[in-house]
Amino acid sequence: MAVSAAALVLGLAISITYSKTLTGSEKNLIEFLDEKPENGPRVREDVSWPGFPYLKQVSAVSVDGNGNLHVFHRGDRVWDAHTFDRTYRLKDTEQGPIPNDTVLVIDTSNGKILYSWGANKFYMPHGLTVDHFGNTWVTDVGLHQSKTEERVGCGVVFNDPIISFTLHNSMSVSSAELTAILVVLQHILVSSYRHFCVYTDSMSALESLHSLTERGHPTVMEILLLLRKLERKDFDIIFSWVPGHVGILGNERADNAARSMTDHMQRPVYGMVVPHSLTLVPEHDAVCVADRENGRVLCYATGMDGSEPGTPLASIENQGLGRVFAIDARGKQLFLVNGPDLWQNSQSVSSDHGLVLDIESGLPMTLWGPDKGFRLPHDLAVSPDGKYVYVSEIDLSAPKRVYKFNIRN
Ligand SMILES: *[C@@H]1O[C@H](CO)[C@@H](O)[C@H](O)[C@H]1NC(C)=O
Repeated sequence: MAVSAAALVLGLAISITYSKTLTGSEKNLIEFLDEKPENGPRVREDVSWPGFPYLKQVSAVSVDGNGNLHVFHRGDRVWDAHTFDRTYRLKDTEQGPIPNDTVLVIDTSNGKILYSWGANKFYMPHGLTVDHFGNTWVTDVGLHQSKTEERVGCGVVFNDPIISFTLHNSMSVSSAELTAILVVLQHILVSSYRHFCVYTDSMSALESLHSLTERGHPTVMEILLLLRKLERKDFDIIFSWVPGHVGILGNERADNAARSMTDHMQRPVYGMVVPHSLTLVPEHDAVCVADRENGRVLCYATGMDGSEPGTPLASIENQGLGRVFAIDARGKQLFLVNGPDLWQNSQSVSSDHGLVLDIESGLPMTLWGPDKGFRLPHDLAVSPDGKYVYVSEIDLSAPKRVYKFNIRN
């Protein structure tokens, strides 16, 4: 997940009608997996790769233009049920940022750490992408949760004027974010328009809307009830996450992107729930997003080929993909890792393995993973030369925190 892609994330929240919904094979994905297929590239673990077992949660991996691997990890911090309090505030902010270097840059030929950085900067590392220019972009789930001087940003796009508001300072940031969503929905309810995008930089607010355990939170309840009401009245509402510190109101680029987006907004996608990963697919001038909680991948035109940016190209869904955590494209192949389905859908694939899907047909091509399976793979990165794929783990019982696989055609 890249901050550099913020404008793209915004652009995504547009939809006309999907030209294609790719439901994959007629066969259930589980049956497909039983056959351990390899109709696409062959993906094999490099067992000699060290795997950094001394790290704890590794949240992101990215490969730069020189083939070096950048790893973003959480030092000794672990994101678990105790990380955020009931009002979604990061607990223990007084312990300060993580003292360890949280970014490791690794020579992939031998697994040696070339250099590291990022000490005393981050609270809960999440995404990291190295762009074509060699810039590193990171997101920190904890940092935007911590109570700072920054204002809670939430914007709503009303076909052009952007309505904004700030909230009382004494509110906890996360409660404020939920309240912001509620206020926005109340505005929407009395509007004569029907299609809206709601942006928030609070991942936890979005997650709490989808979490069963948070339904007890009064604001979450109110939001869910209001959403149901809006749905009955034929409103289309998109929730879109924008990376922390790129408050849509405070960032001109995001602001402009949002404005230009409304120009060609027609019918929004029904809400993405936690867009968790995105990748460019240059072969199709497309950008694809892992709509994590909806267990699907949505692809849109980037507009680079002169077509309308944001035009939906395909939706890969209904495959029992579980929760799609990370995607990365290799030509027309989409590499994907998933997580267990929160709804305990037995028809969903377990997170033991990664998949390669054909972007054009949505069909699964290859099942891959370490012999003993993944535990909770969080991110993956295909090297720019297409020869390797790296996967990061956030499960502390995983034998490796970073896996390396060789890819052969
Ligand atoms: C973080 O730093 C502490 C202190 O140097 C060290 O004991 C610990 O092993 C480091 N943790 C990781 C995951 O590197």
